[in-house]
Amino acid sequence: MNMLNCHHHLLLLPFLTLLLFLLLSISFSDALDFLFNSFNDTDLKLTGDARFESSVIRLTNDSNQYSIGRAFYPSPLPMLNSSTESTITSFSTSFVFSVLPQSTSNPGFGVAFFLSNSTSPPNAIAGQYFGLFSNATRPSVYPLIAVEFDTGINVEFNDPDANHVGIDLNNIESDVTRSAGFYNSTNGELVPLDMRDGQNVRTWIEFDGSLLELNVTIAPATVPRPSRPLITYKNPAIANYLSPNMYVGFSASKTTWVEAQRILAWSFSNTGTARDLNTTNLAVFLPESSSSPSFSAGAIAGTSVAFAVFFVLCLSGLYWFWQKKKKKAAREDDAIEHWELEYWPHRFSLEELSEATKGFSKDELLGSGGFGRVYKGILPNNNDMEVAVKCVSHDSRQGLREFMAEISSMGRLQHKNLVQMRGWCRKGNELMLVYDYMPNGSLNRWIFDKPKKVMGWEERRRVLGDVAEGLKYLHHEWDQMVLHRDIKSSNILLDSEMRGRLGDFGLAKLYQHGQTPNTTRVVGTLGYLAPELANVVAPTAASDVYSYGVVVLEVVCGRRPIETWSVDEPLLIDWVRELYVEGRLSEAADSRIAGEYKVEDMEAVLKLGLACCHPHPHHRPTMREVVALLLGKEVSAAPGRLLSPLSRALSGGVEVLEPPLPPPGSRGN
Ligand SMILES: *[C@@H]1O[C@H](CO)[C@@H](O)[C@H](O)[C@H]1NC(C)=O
Ligand SMILES: *[C@@H]1O[C@H](CO)[C@@H](O)[C@H](O)[C@H]1NC(C)=O
Ligand SMILES: *[C@@H]1O[C@H](CO)[C@@H](O)[C@H](O)[C@H]1NC(C)=O
Ligand SMILES: *[C@@H]1O[C@H](CO)[C@@H](O)[C@H](O)[C@H]1NC(C)=O
Ligand SMILES: *[C@@H]1O[C@H](CO)[C@@H](O)[C@H](O)[C@H]1NC(C)=O
Ligand SMILES: *[C@@H]1O[C@H](CO)[C@@H](O)[C@H](O)[C@H]1NC(C)=O
Ligand SMILES: *[C@@H]1O[C@H](CO)[C@@H](O)[C@H](O)[C@H]1NC(C)=O
Ligand SMILES: *[C@@H]1O[C@H](CO)[C@@H](O)[C@H](O)[C@H]1NC(C)=O
Repeated sequence: MNMLNCHHHLLLLPFLTLLLFLLLSISFSDALDFLFNSFNDTDLKLTGDARFESSVIRLTNDSNQYSIGRAFYPSPLPMLNSSTESTITSFSTSFVFSVLPQSTSNPGFGVAFFLSNSTSPPNAIAGQYFGLFSNATRPSVYPLIAVEFDTGINVEFNDPDANHVGIDLNNIESDVTRSAGFYNSTNGELVPLDMRDGQNVRTWIEFDGSLLELNVTIAPATVPRPSRPLITYKNPAIANYLSPNMYVGFSASKTTWVEAQRILAWSFSNTGTARDLNTTNLAVFLPESSSSPSFSAGAIAGTSVAFAVFFVLCLSGLYWFWQKKKKKAAREDDAIEHWELEYWPHRFSLEELSEATKGFSKDELLGSGGFGRVYKGILPNNNDMEVAVKCVSHDSRQGLREFMAEISSMGRLQHKNLVQMRGWCRKGNELMLVYDYMPNGSLNRWIFDKPKKVMGWEERRRVLGDVAEGLKYLHHEWDQMVLHRDIKSSNILLDSEMRGRLGDFGLAKLYQHGQTPNTTRVVGTLGYLAPELANVVAPTAASDVYSYGVVVLEVVCGRRPIETWSVDEPLLIDWVRELYVEGRLSEAADSRIAGEYKVEDMEAVLKLGLACCHPHPHHRPTMREVVALLLGKEVSAAPGRLLSPLSRALSGGVEVLEPPLPPPGSRGN
């Protein structure tokens, strides 16, 4: 400055003033400072199922299976301080939220405060992911930071409990977590705070952009601000998760379990401390039983919703009983409809499953096999729903973890010919999978175990058709191809109407990763394994088809694929193939059902089974083709194309395959 004489200085003055004005106006436009002690429908930008409801924001929609709701301030927060360019801005915010699960024993997933460069983070999914994060096992560095108020426990994400606060850097697995609570300013004691009972929870978040430090404090809305934060989190890596402009707001998601997540008030400032919220007149949303007699609008709305839900439950209960009564007329499709409400695999608590199975009592043991024990259970919280609880223990945490990620997608598989998965629970290396209970047990028992009543031909063929349809769904009709990898008659279960359902899909994969005591070789079951798998080729849809073919043969012939007690006995496949070559295929059929079938029908099914067991994977039909042939659908569309794999499959050109089966009477459509 000493170089400037007075004259120059005077000349510069207007210019400097202009510059100062520009700077001021820039930093002024950067300032984000707001206070909402209540909301109106124009204050925030709401996406998904989020909505404005009499002065508060509700994030999810109870009636949707999957629901994601977000609410954010309409304009983004500039993260770089424009007056210094390189420094990261600091901010301070305070808000009041309320989380009220419909059932206290089954809370949902809570709510998250977040900063993101986009109003719709890519691949965000519902459920435990807050509608923010993707399910990627190794999430990328991406501008998304969240403070989660989690009301569920996901052990696979290292959650400490079902009531915690965590800081997430584009990763559902929090970088730091603390059980919900606050430090008493008087004596410094940590007082636990239950975020799942609907009470208004006030939160303060302070972010220091130069230190990259984030403080989170929570307390009941009635308690003054605690002086010590619950979480002090300092991590230079935060900078990698920032972008020049970030939207700030809230996100929540639901799947099965209904939970109301509400935002009642919010203040924010990037120029100083966020203004104090006035919590005196906030609505309070408590469970009906304990709600105060003063009826706020919210309480009334809540009560009427609860009544509506109750009414619907009663109605569906009645409907269900009515359905059960007129069993004769009921089709399997109706039976599924009743349960359609829930299909995201729910995370059960160990207590719940323990109660359901009477403490995993021996009396409830349905069976035990290579995969572990299976117990029968009754879920008191789900209309006394009958379930089968499969306990799988696993040596490799790594494999288990990967598998857990898949469970969430497998639980979404839904088909009338699959055993529906209802949820899971994990304790240490033990995984518990909850499935619908299948009252008629597994198919092998009806074929081999000297049942009271031998399964008739029509029933057998129907079950084979059911299984084919289930497998076709896994292979061709879902977002991704799902390989079953362990198809065998003991994995085919029969529901109350004796319809076949495929169980344990995808489970075999778990064992590929880990060394379980029971499995020392290729995944799958001897006798059902496609020959190419002996050379440790990765399983394919065609190897599933092979196993299915073995099931077809055993069901029609009433013989096990390998009769273990006899060394001389040929493998079932070789035996049937030989009879076929000799033109004596009809002799292969189970003698116990002789006379129940038309010989051509039976032979056609056997040929299909043989075709599926073709030694060369490429010559096996696909499950689409199998279903078309077995159930007589779509055949007219392309009979030549469908038949060619079969005629090819029956190698040696011994015989050109007969036309496909006549459409079975049992499945008229
Ligand atoms: C909504 O609230 C804001 C302030 O919070 C106010 O400026 C605006 O006029 C309100 N809009 C309506 C429609 O009430
Ligand atoms: C919830 O979603 C359903 C359908 O998706 C819609 O009809 C209903 O209005 C929504 N409820 C609320 C409260 O927004
Ligand atoms: C930007 O940085 C300056 C100087 O550090 C500070 O005074 C100002 O409050 C900051 N502005 C924002 C919006 O953070
Ligand atoms: C958000 O950031 C990512 C990574 O930096 C970038 O690829 C993406 O385009 C950004 N999205 C928006 C909406 O700015
Ligand atoms: C904090 O501790 C003091 C003294 O022990 C007690 O009187 C007060 O009720 C506590 N406050 C809260 C909010 O728990
Ligand atoms: C966070 O809390 C600690 C401990 O109370 C305090 O020293 C620090 O200044 C706080 N940081 C911010 C960004 O508020
Ligand atoms: C909070 O709001 C109530 C009425 O809405 C008012 O009576 C009270 O003075 C306010 N408190 C503060 C600290 O502003
Ligand atoms: C993540 O979810 C998507 C779609 O919901 C699914 O296709 C994918 O398989 C899932 N990935 C993992 C690792 O679970």
